[in-house]
Amino acid sequence: MPDYLSNSAAETERAGMLLGERLHTGDVILLTGELGAGKTTFVRGVAHGTGSKAPVASPTFQLVRVYPGRVQLAHIDLYRIENSSELRDLGLEELAQQGAVVVEWGERLDVDGAARVEFEHLGGDRRVIRTIRDLSH
Ligand SMILES: Nc1ncnc2c1ncn2[C@@H]1O[C@H](COP(=O)(O)OP(=O)(O)OP(=O)(O)O)[C@@H](O)[C@H]1O
Ligand SMILES: [Mg+2]
Repeated sequence: MPDYLSNSAAETERAGMLLGERLHTGDVILLTGELGAGKTTFVRGVAHGTGSKAPVASPTFQLVRVYPGRVQLAHIDLYRIENSSELRDLGLEELAQQGAVVVEWGERLDVDGAARVEFEHLGGDRRVIRTIRDLSH
């Protein structure tokens, strides 16, 4: 996906949906960007694109949420993760065997072959969404 200038939460959701439509089992997407940059908003679109009808909320107090769909989507948020044993306990490999995985604060993980999307807050409702590494298919 080329760099994308979003002017609203709805546009960010739409960008996420386009990615969600392309997801397969085994795909891992790491999202980076400051607080309020739009990561959860984007995931709402991703879930929609995978065919999930589940409401997407920030899993900040719950490390992982799973949304069933055409492809299962596991939504992970590492903001509150405290140590590397919690990272190991996520069960990332198993989640990636069951479906696709999208990770907020993904800079805290290093996953071979993962896609990377970066969000930059430009002020107001404007955000830049950059694909640092696209899906491998
Ligand atoms: N262009 C935009 N894209 C995304 N969100 C936007 C945009 N304009 C305004 N917003 C608003 O900004 C907020 C983004 O919050 P969101 O929870 O998606 O960010 P986040 O990156 O997940 O933050 P956190 O790091 O706290 O998890 C929402 O309230 C959303 O409505
Ligand atoms: Mg969030």
